[in-house]
Amino acid sequence: MKSFSRRDMLKTSLLAPAAAVAAHGMGPMSAAMQAVAENPSPLPANVPRESPNPGAGRERLLLDFGWRFHFGNANDPVKDFGYGSGRSGNFQKTGNFLPAGTLAFDDADWQPVDLPHDWAIELPFQNDPSLSSKGYYPLGRNYPDTSVGWYRRVFELAAEDANKRITIEFDGSYRETMVVFNGFYIGRHSGGYDPFSFDVTDFATPGGRNVLLVRVDATLSDGWFYEGAGIYRHTWLVKTHPVHVKQWGTFVAAQVRPSEAALSIRTEVDNHGKAAQNANVISTVLDPSGKEVGKAVTAPISIAEGGEQTYTQQISVSRPLLWSLEERNLYKLVTEVRAGGEIVDRYETRFGIRTVSFDAEKGFFLNGKSVKLKGTCNHQDHAGLGAALPDAVQYYRVRKLQEMGCNSWRTSHNPPTPELLDACDELGMLVFDETRMMSSNPEGLSQFGDLVRRDRNHPSVFMWSMGNEEGQANTETGLHILTAMKALATEYDGSRPVSIAPIRAIGVGGLVECDVMGYNYMDPGAEAYHKAHPDKPVVGTETVSAVGTRGIYVTDFQKGYVGSYDPYTTTGRASAEGWWSFCNARDWCSGGFVWTGFDYRGEPSPNEWPNIGSQYGIIDTCGFPKDSFFYYQSWWTARPVLHLFPHWNWPGMEGKEIAVWVYSNLDKVELFLNGQSLGAKEMKKDSHLAWTVKYAPGAIEARGFKDGKMVMTAKRETTGPAAKLVMKADRQQISADGEDVAMFAVEVHDAQGRIVPVTDNLVMFRVSGEGKLIGTGNGDPTNQEPDKGTSRKAFSGLCMGIAQSTKTAGDINVEATSPGLTSASVTIAAKAQALRPQVAVWQREVPAGSGVTGLWRPLPEAGNNSGFLAMLVGGGTMLFTLRQDGSKLTGSVEGTGGGFFGGGDAPTPITEGKIDGENISFKAGNNTYAGSLKGEQIELQRKVDLGFSLTPPAAPVEPRPAVGPPPDGSDPSRSPSWHIPSSIPLVLHRVKQ
Ligand code: GAL
Repeated sequence: MKSFSRRDMLKTSLLAPAAAVAAHGMGPMSAAMQAVAENPSPLPANVPRESPNPGAGRERLLLDFGWRFHFGNANDPVKDFGYGSGRSGNFQKTGNFLPAGTLAFDDADWQPVDLPHDWAIELPFQNDPSLSSKGYYPLGRNYPDTSVGWYRRVFELAAEDANKRITIEFDGSYRETMVVFNGFYIGRHSGGYDPFSFDVTDFATPGGRNVLLVRVDATLSDGWFYEGAGIYRHTWLVKTHPVHVKQWGTFVAAQVRPSEAALSIRTEVDNHGKAAQNANVISTVLDPSGKEVGKAVTAPISIAEGGEQTYTQQISVSRPLLWSLEERNLYKLVTEVRAGGEIVDRYETRFGIRTVSFDAEKGFFLNGKSVKLKGTCNHQDHAGLGAALPDAVQYYRVRKLQEMGCNSWRTSHNPPTPELLDACDELGMLVFDETRMMSSNPEGLSQFGDLVRRDRNHPSVFMWSMGNEEGQANTETGLHILTAMKALATEYDGSRPVSIAPIRAIGVGGLVECDVMGYNYMDPGAEAYHKAHPDKPVVGTETVSAVGTRGIYVTDFQKGYVGSYDPYTTTGRASAEGWWSFCNARDWCSGGFVWTGFDYRGEPSPNEWPNIGSQYGIIDTCGFPKDSFFYYQSWWTARPVLHLFPHWNWPGMEGKEIAVWVYSNLDKVELFLNGQSLGAKEMKKDSHLAWTVKYAPGAIEARGFKDGKMVMTAKRETTGPAAKLVMKADRQQISADGEDVAMFAVEVHDAQGRIVPVTDNLVMFRVSGEGKLIGTGNGDPTNQEPDKGTSRKAFSGLCMGIAQSTKTAGDINVEATSPGLTSASVTIAAKAQALRPQVAVWQREVPAGSGVTGLWRPLPEAGNNSGFLAMLVGGGTMLFTLRQDGSKLTGSVEGTGGGFFGGGDAPTPITEGKIDGENISFKAGNNTYAGSLKGEQIELQRKVDLGFSLTPPAAPVEPRPAVGPPPDGSDPSRSPSWHIPSSIPLVLHRVKQ
């Protein structure tokens, strides 16, 4: 079958009249244009574009549910839904971008998915050394089949939405994202971590169905760690009045004075309306209990059409309740915009009142109180989920870190998901908020600027990080870059210090721009710097990098495991104890951020394959603590800690020496082997205790003393073989909102109820009731079982299943079974919950009834759908919704609004529909269909009233010169064989959607 190029079109001389239409608005092509677009305007004619009396307010609707997903291809346009097929330039006309963007498109073989979604963790591991840093997932230019994903979502807009601005917001998508809306190319975004949005108002169909098509290309990547692939954060549909608060357009800065906080409020208002608007801003401050504690009203200011206006206000809050790590008091700013005598927008901003400051001699202060930064760096990856974390998992991870006394989180090495910051605000965790690209190029500044604008009202965010280990930061060029970045932070915020995590340098080149001097892994260098610059605050932006495999005590590079005793660092960097005892002994050291809190995929140091994940975490990928967790817990919390390791299952090691360590913050610990004392030792601050013990099966026991009294004991016993599973849920009740999750930790016990620390039984998970299993994990950095499978081997006696609620209240029952072991089950409750505002899931209605009633699509192989006429008038993808009532036929036809010139994609109603025995005929717009029923199929001819015809070229006059046209100018290059076929044959068959 011939396909047609633009060159072919030129030959037909169709473009000349098309140009005339463009030039004069009318002309011989107007009829053809109508045929091309049966319903050319996406906006029904009777809906006014802007109501003189608009409704107030905005809607921000979660657009996570009800998507469909399909792999595309980074090399092959045929497998990429026609994107990039050289012949039909996708960008040649506005509208009609790709068949996959049409309402009629058949996405039956697309997989239903909800966001957040990360397709990378579902890919099979590939033993290709070039993939090691990413965790051996096949992504990149060598893996075109698995590096591109397409998402489709159909949704309805109400007719009243014609008065609104319609915006689609993406919190983050990895990594190059292209958005098509109602067949119109909307835009592209490059960058896997920064939020982006598109105003699609001009392309929307209020009062009808709208199609969002998103292509995500994860071929290129940023990091040397796992980053995921796809729309892995939330997506939102935002509707606003044309006069509205700009995205992230509010900022509250607080000056805290004795018994009063002076709030400076900045509000940016956009006018996307068709005329200048007089608008003023009313700001109301609500205290943590929701009581109004301050209000200010600005004078009206005229905002030009398409313009923007910044309003500033001062509000004093007396006796403010400060946000702190212990008391997370959160205020709310309610911003109302009044225009044309009405409140047209209401925008809420959560904020906290607190002070942050650094002192070069004494470190960091929160609300004037010294706080040592006991921080961890973390990537955004979790067992079973990859980069697509439900919000509840953010809270789970923050809580896990808090259990060990961690009070600050560095979002290495990228802007975080907003919900992580919400969790930190609510749970009391400080955030060192990092951008991805250290650059003053437009992309770098936009990423950093958006980070600051988006996150500046979070009280947890105490400092901006302009990057990580950028060699250029140490240079003169780095000075230019960091000066520009810092200026942006000052412009958009100005209330927080900036820093950067440097590489092998402190305070040189562009690093002088840091308000707080960061250092990575250079404790002695930091001390020397502090001595030379006693007036500059210093923080350990990255420290430690110790590795260890949970529950493993013998390093075995063959297996990919590293013993869990603290001194095992891969890169000659400090151990946990080495760094913390240094930092804690020096007031000038504000604290630091340990690499890392949680294990993560990728960067499988010190081993490569079969390791697919890192082992830097103090906690494994599931949230199970490693031994070093208890080192930090001992010295980062005030609660008594006594932790003894290793396990005591060492068959064959009888009589051999085993290092036995204790992490504790008690005064003294005495160790016993099988009831015999091996001596007591005094605990030194920020240290550990160690004994060398000749192994004998039985029990080692540590007894911990405080003020001369024994206050705690810890015991490790030689266990029997695995006998049963025990399961524990982290929460007994979750919300029935289709989003919330609970973690189900499975322990393998022996018959006496002791965790068997050296077993790897296969555990099968089964979730029933109002929940579903969304992932499993076990923390083994070499484990290559699928994260989305229903089973997982235990690792060092533990594994985990993650279950998510449905939107129906009820019980969620999780059962864990393992061959030969007693199984375990836990039931938790999913409680009814008002769903957060969200876009309804759309499903095409299938009409029920007799005869031909139902959905029909053309068989692709049977017709001439991609012929010349079809190319002109559209028809690659069509859907017929037919309703038969006796001999009367009604319904609609979709998918004829495309064609070479683009056009609308709304269903066209069927008129004059008749069924007479086998014969069937109907009209839809400028199309006439006629044919007959043939068993399970309908054979039709589609005629299109183009309103014009091609005049065949005159026969060339003879004789002709050897070179050039004959004297009368008749064009020999025009083939008399060119003609427009009179109809398109179609064979329809029944479909389900
Ligand atoms: C740091 C780097 C981190 C991680 C770590 C491993 O230098 O910033 O991303 O690679 O080393 O030790």
